[in-house]
Amino acid sequence: MKKETILVLDFGGQYNQLIARRVRECNVYAEVHPYTLSLDKIKEMAPKGIIFTGGPNSVYDPASPHYDKAILELGIPVLGICYGSQLMAYMLGGEVKTAPVSEYGHTDVTVSTSSKLFHGIEENTSVWMSHTDYIAKAPAGFEVTAHSAVCPVAAMENAAKRLYATQFHPEVLHTRDGKKIISNFVYTVCGCIGDWTMDSFVESKIREIKEQVGNGKTLCALSGGVDSSVAAVLMSKAIGKNLTCVFVDHGLLRKDEGDQVEGVFGPNGSYDLNFIRVNAQERFYKKLAGVEDPEQKRKIIGEEFIRVFEEEAKKIGAVDYLVQGTIYPDVIESGLGKSAVIKSHHNVGGLPDCVDFKEIIEPLRMLFKDEVRKAGSELGIPSFLTMRQPFPGPGLGVRIVGEVTAEKVRIVQEADAIFREELDKAELKQRPGQYFAALSNMRSVGVMGDFRTYDYAIVLRAVNTTDFMTADCTEIPFDVQQRCMTRIINEVKGVNRVLFDLTSKPPGTIEFE
Ligand code: XMP
Repeated sequence: MKKETILVLDFGGQYNQLIARRVRECNVYAEVHPYTLSLDKIKEMAPKGIIFTGGPNSVYDPASPHYDKAILELGIPVLGICYGSQLMAYMLGGEVKTAPVSEYGHTDVTVSTSSKLFHGIEENTSVWMSHTDYIAKAPAGFEVTAHSAVCPVAAMENAAKRLYATQFHPEVLHTRDGKKIISNFVYTVCGCIGDWTMDSFVESKIREIKEQVGNGKTLCALSGGVDSSVAAVLMSKAIGKNLTCVFVDHGLLRKDEGDQVEGVFGPNGSYDLNFIRVNAQERFYKKLAGVEDPEQKRKIIGEEFIRVFEEEAKKIGAVDYLVQGTIYPDVIESGLGKSAVIKSHHNVGGLPDCVDFKEIIEPLRMLFKDEVRKAGSELGIPSFLTMRQPFPGPGLGVRIVGEVTAEKVRIVQEADAIFREELDKAELKQRPGQYFAALSNMRSVGVMGDFRTYDYAIVLRAVNTTDFMTADCTEIPFDVQQRCMTRIINEVKGVNRVLFDLTSKPPGTIEFE
């Protein structure tokens, strides 16, 4: 069954992924493609609608991205956003001008509620603007359907031809009725029925994998992270024992994590797959002994990971397929249109090179992270795995300053478990994007009972972030901080001080290495 698709044609906008996500939140499948996608390909795709994204350019600049005007004559509804709206106006003979000052941020607009696009929203609403160029005159046949104090054409449409445009960004949450506008476009204008749901995805993906793989032997590097766990379960539902999952416990996992992953995927777990746990803790500690430089530690962990995986793969012998947990943002970020760079598991780089296989399977290639989580719960994976916060491939290796030792790993594991437990119990208004304990390499004098101590300082870190490129320190209520401090010092041998890291990113990084 071919599912209905909205094509997001990317003109270089920073919100291209967001547009696709918003459409999918309406249960309609959306794909992002570069503006270089040919008209023939678009005809072949037969999308139910097309969205032109924003972009940093000016339509009059010959070097800026344009598209064949014929795209507006296919009879497929089009919504142009920001640059996309100016492009539509320009292509159809409207007038685009450069304003002396940019319009940026929250903006009040008045919309025509008789427009299908604005049906069901307030006449006066607040939207997110970010532009310098603007449509000064809509093309012939177009009606202006929204304006702001300084923007004469904040939205326009030719309803008969099903061409719509907004100067503002309905895809960002700052646009109060953005979700409704996107939903109006996909349902009312494009006539979608909303067939993109995770249960239908899971069902059809399992069918597809069965057809593709047949009886082929398949290998999966399972880290216990969200993506590789969901990929493994999807594969196991499709091909059962023809799948072998290799889980390398490098001794740098969080407290009890290795056993939890084994509990779910191992012989006593819920899935019919071959599960190999490699307990390589000592091997990693030995390699890391005496090494203090963070980059060198990362390299050692990465290389050792490959060696271990390679040895296991050799024991299994030649495999037909290798499973990768690549997800849609990886595909988009690694360059649309080009063949996607294969995500290196655990950031080790080059994993596929060391395994003799014929083909790579990426069952989650078209899913956003939240969709992967939904697919995971659809597949019955426990929520402690599907809702996990990101955890770096090199594990606690990047949360221990200085030399990594088994003793330091124990300290950070225990402190981290307490911090996470207390934060989860605290029911904060918003869960931080990432929160963990790290071990500073600092030891200092303290007093416990009647004894002098000379122990480590644990650092607690909690950050709010959506993109993990920038982050701010999360405000944790003081009583929660105090509880964490007391418990960590009482319960974790070797710690006599607890510090809280206030640093944002930049100038810091999220991890503490
Ligand atoms: P930093 O510390 O660079 O981290 O601010 C940004 C995000 O990336 C995660 N991270 C990693 N993830 N392998 C991974 O898979 C790594 O080597 C790695 N290093 C950092 C980090 O947890 C945060 O979410």
